[in-house]
Amino acid sequence: MDLRLNTNHTIHLVKKYGTPLFIYDTEVFKKQFNNLKNHFPTNATIFYACKALSNLNILIYFQQLGTNIDCSSIQEVELALKAGFNPEKILYTSNSVHFEEIVAATKKNVHVTIDSLSNLEKFAKKFQSSKSVGIRLRPNILDGGNLKISTGHNTSKFGIPIEQMNMVYALCKKYKLQIETLHIHTGSEIKDLKSYKKIATIFEELIPHFPHLKYLDFGGGFKVPYKENEIGIDIPSLANFIKNFSKKINKKYQKSFQFWFEPGKYLVSAAGILLSKVNVIKNNPEQIILGLDTGLNHLIRPMYYGAYHKIENLSNRKGKNIEYTIVGNICETDTFAEKRKLRITKEDDILVFYNAGAYCYEMSMNYNARFKPPQILLIDNKDYLISKRSNLNSLINNQIKIF
Ligand code: LLP
Repeated sequence: MDLRLNTNHTIHLVKKYGTPLFIYDTEVFKKQFNNLKNHFPTNATIFYACKALSNLNILIYFQQLGTNIDCSSIQEVELALKAGFNPEKILYTSNSVHFEEIVAATKKNVHVTIDSLSNLEKFAKKFQSSKSVGIRLRPNILDGGNLKISTGHNTSKFGIPIEQMNMVYALCKKYKLQIETLHIHTGSEIKDLKSYKKIATIFEELIPHFPHLKYLDFGGGFKVPYKENEIGIDIPSLANFIKNFSKKINKKYQKSFQFWFEPGKYLVSAAGILLSKVNVIKNNPEQIILGLDTGLNHLIRPMYYGAYHKIENLSNRKGKNIEYTIVGNICETDTFAEKRKLRITKEDDILVFYNAGAYCYEMSMNYNARFKPPQILLIDNKDYLISKRSNLNSLINNQIKIF
């Protein structure tokens, strides 16, 4: 909701590129990163969680801004390397991957975090003390915007349960395994400092067990506002807490640690919008339905998480407000918003979805054989096409015709 939209410029881009269309403003990326950089102490490092938005141009932009990068697959690691990140600035946080993928990442000399005892044991056997590694822990903390994006609770699939730390200690002892990172990510859309404080307490207790420890990784999850009256996480307070925690443990253990964070949404969510045209209006007895030229194939967050995205009518920013139910054109129930107030809307009007930078294009798909929208990057207000609209060829590119 941060993107300061210039209506005329946006309408011009809609005419130039058509709809549906994603636009991202690099000014917002920069502003968000600078806000972190200006508040966090120098022993804190920001890894952009690139699963939020991974177009190569955007990765290059962040690399040039000076972020590190957090990857959740070997393919993201390959992209990060392609974007010019040095391996030591890349973190690969694995989950439910085959050991072969961990070996592949380790061979690229990036930081690797392992989230299962099974893979940790395989790693220990193969590399012993020749390679340091990180471990992801499941702290049994329930936090996050909704259960689907909560990752630290006691039935979460992520991480090694904290109850099983004895087995980690045993592996370290048996194989002389060197743990360099402890990692906990409790979820996405964390509103306050409580969970980060709990994570700090867990780290503080675990430090004596890991003599090779260098990095304490608090994960990502910084909440950004999606609704008008929402507030995001208080970055200055979090940074202040980290400063104090750092002083405390450096003194207690006579050792200095690095503090890692992996924000995705915080860096890119507010920088993006999705623009869509109203295809059809149904004046049904119960409600007025606006049928758009987009759907869950481009923005699945409302259907999958019940997520709220602010929507406005760009073609009529002054008229009366009316309640509409806003739906997609996919052959599924893909409702974006029920009974949402919008300025009086006509067919062919252009609607804008805010906070479409994180996990929107990235989670898009070609269901119903519909095309993915193009993506535009604004640099100093100049528009650059960074991915084309897909087409019939790109849909069938990998198919093999056997008839
Ligand atoms: N680090 C780890 C280990 C993660 O699993 C995630 C997100 C992040 C960092 C970045 O979290 P963020 O700062 O973006 O909240 N698709 C969902 C969000 C899933 C997040 C998955 N992991 C959504 O659209 O809300």
